[in-house]
Amino acid sequence: MHLCSILVFYYFGDGPMFRIALVTAALLAGNACAQDLEALKLDTRKNALPVLPKVVGMMQDTVAREGVSQAIPVCKEKAPQLLQAQSAKTGWEMRRVSLKTRNPERGTPDVWEARHLADFNIRAAQGEKPETLEVGEIVTENGRPLYRYMRAVPVGEVCLNCHGPVEQLDSSLRSQLAKSYPHDQAFGYAKGQIRGALTVKRPL
Ligand code: HEC
Repeated sequence: MHLCSILVFYYFGDGPMFRIALVTAALLAGNACAQDLEALKLDTRKNALPVLPKVVGMMQDTVAREGVSQAIPVCKEKAPQLLQAQSAKTGWEMRRVSLKTRNPERGTPDVWEARHLADFNIRAAQGEKPETLEVGEIVTENGRPLYRYMRAVPVGEVCLNCHGPVEQLDSSLRSQLAKSYPHDQAFGYAKGQIRGALTVKRPL
């Protein structure tokens, strides 16, 4: 059972002893919860985040070696495949989401994700580094506890080839994208902005 859901009270009778016991139990439980959350965050980072630099590296290599059009499958197939493989290994749900999707079927955020993506944008505007933005929370979904984690995915130089200002994109790439993604909103980004996030749902 999860530590946060364990709260054992001993009845010490009325009076100061009872109150001291109650306060101590509450403090201990709060402390256990904070430790639990920190451990969950560290373990989630360790298992989920290595996918991000892998995709960036693959994207840089493919663009340099084969050109931008040939690199579409890195974002379209390789990134989801790497996340899928990691999902299969851990049993956690993992995907990429964005407030401005290219592929709305896969990348549309739910309410929790949309709220925290908006919050990431605010935090970045207040000076936090986009690549360090993350959130981790225990939530209840359909009566079951879940650990939810989300980490911002910033726009790097290579991403601008396909997610930068539309007028700066290669014209054949543009028509290729338009054919596959009639509802594409994932243009117009500048380096350092938040393209979206990696999101994890981890059953507890
Ligand atoms: C060669 C073109 C290309 C480049 C370069 C590129 N992307 Fe993409 N990106 C795409 C395509 C195509 C999709 C839609 C994938 C799909 O069908 O699920 C996409 C989707 C995404 C998504 C999923 C959410 C959405 O909008 O559907 C994220 C997040 C993302 N890209 C981030 C990045 C980042 C970060 C970089 C730079 C490291 C990058 N992309 C570089 C073409 C590209």
